[in-house]
Amino acid sequence: MSLTFDILVIGSGIAGLSFALRVADRYRVAVVTKKEKIETSTNYAQGGIASVLGPDDSFDLHMRDTLQSGDGLCHADVVEMVVKNGPARVQELTEMGVAFSRGQDPSAPFDLSREGGHSRNRIVHAHDMTGREVERVLVSMAEAHPNIEIFENHIAIDLIVECHLLKRGLLTTRKRERCWGAYVLDTRGNRIITFHAKNTLLCTGGAGKVYVYTSNPDVATGDGVAMAYRAGAVIANMEFVQFHPTCLYHPHAKNFLISEALRGEGGRLLDKRGHPFMEKYHPLKDLAFRDIVARAIDTEMKQSGDDCVYLDMTHHEPDFLKRRFPNIYEKCLTLGIDITREPIPVVPAAHYMCGGILTDRHGRTSIDHLYALGEAACTGLHGANRLASNSLLEALVFAHNTAQDLLARPASADDSYLLEVPRLEMPKIADSSEMVLITYNWDVIRRLMWNYVGIVRTDARLQLAQNHLAQIQREIDEHYPNISLNSDLIELRNLTTVAEIIVTCARKRLESRGLHYNVDHPQKDDAHWCRDTLLRLDEPAA
Ligand code: SIN
Repeated sequence: MSLTFDILVIGSGIAGLSFALRVADRYRVAVVTKKEKIETSTNYAQGGIASVLGPDDSFDLHMRDTLQSGDGLCHADVVEMVVKNGPARVQELTEMGVAFSRGQDPSAPFDLSREGGHSRNRIVHAHDMTGREVERVLVSMAEAHPNIEIFENHIAIDLIVECHLLKRGLLTTRKRERCWGAYVLDTRGNRIITFHAKNTLLCTGGAGKVYVYTSNPDVATGDGVAMAYRAGAVIANMEFVQFHPTCLYHPHAKNFLISEALRGEGGRLLDKRGHPFMEKYHPLKDLAFRDIVARAIDTEMKQSGDDCVYLDMTHHEPDFLKRRFPNIYEKCLTLGIDITREPIPVVPAAHYMCGGILTDRHGRTSIDHLYALGEAACTGLHGANRLASNSLLEALVFAHNTAQDLLARPASADDSYLLEVPRLEMPKIADSSEMVLITYNWDVIRRLMWNYVGIVRTDARLQLAQNHLAQIQREIDEHYPNISLNSDLIELRNLTTVAEIIVTCARKRLESRGLHYNVDHPQKDDAHWCRDTLLRLDEPAA
């Protein structure tokens, strides 16, 4: 079966939906999403959107904080563009009906909170459920738009690009690489659909599931980065994996974040004996940049042998905590932790990919007619360490820029994207004995990445990880054509690719900077490494 749209958007978070809504009056848009439409990282974002909205704030201060966090690798022009666009994008969301929290002062439009690395209160939020509120509005508007069709339970398998077509003999000459859409598995209908599209957007979010401990939902398997890589796109800076310092530590809590906004409200990190420890690590103490806080917690846990540290909020009135953090309060209470009376057990966990598919200021990738937005992209904003709450902002600004780019183009007669492409056939035989390959390797990769490619790295561990991953990749390549295609297998293939990309990028960078800390190269080396790490398929290995 094949379907044709003007634009194919893969992913239904803030990047994909806000883009789709901007272009849908002119273009027919398919939004493909692998689970239910709200099951996105956006939906779980607690903190908020950083933007210059307070009377004591300025663009210069937000830019300075972002650049400092990025540790020399942010692209200053992109930082300026994103920061300056922020207030307008937040205003648009309020006009669409997003209900951001208001403060005590009824004349102030927003209650602005603070997170690590911000020198001012500038996080606009909806209590501690900002992403859920934004997603609610975007989904309802997208559903109501006649030109947007949402395909739930459809997982993209691969992009339709020249290099894949050349391999199958469908094209004989190679021009500049371009994308014509994607092959997509309808997981309910158990069939592969060929989506033809003049333009394709990868808005697939992050890849936190590559680590055993993550704040991300199950969908965060790096599908966009893996597909783009296989298609020959340039990938950048994947060694910069942000570990959020505070995820809930409890045997029955899966991936639950304890927002940095708690530390913004004066929360203090304590060791098991109740001693604060962040003053040992940075003058900003509990509100230092995330790489510093996560490494400090990792050090404390390794030194003490404790399973977790604690975040204490008990200095606040219970009513304040229940009003400001209703979601976190309720979740902890269901697990027997009353945050108004006792400190919260927390551990660091993989949270955000600062690298991704390299794009320009309009979301364009190195492949024609292929765009990337949101966490899947590497735009130059985050550098070596993303400043908290800059990611929803980035998604909004780049969705706007990409839409402007596409809307400004004259209608073209180019209909080559309608070319006949070979159907992808479902493998006929479901070899159930091989299904163990999926579950076993899924587990191995996530533990391997946590132990060898985590907060603190060494050359030897990175080398070991690369060897193990190469073996797993070989097994997958061997068995992939024979196992009945399903979303677990597609995700495993993508996770393995993303894990290999992270390790390759980490091995290339022979220094420590931002989120990449290697004890064999503990210093920052501006003379050689003040630049992005770029990677593309078929490049010789490190
Ligand atoms: C948080 O609420 O701590 C997460 C915010 C972010 O990662 O930007």
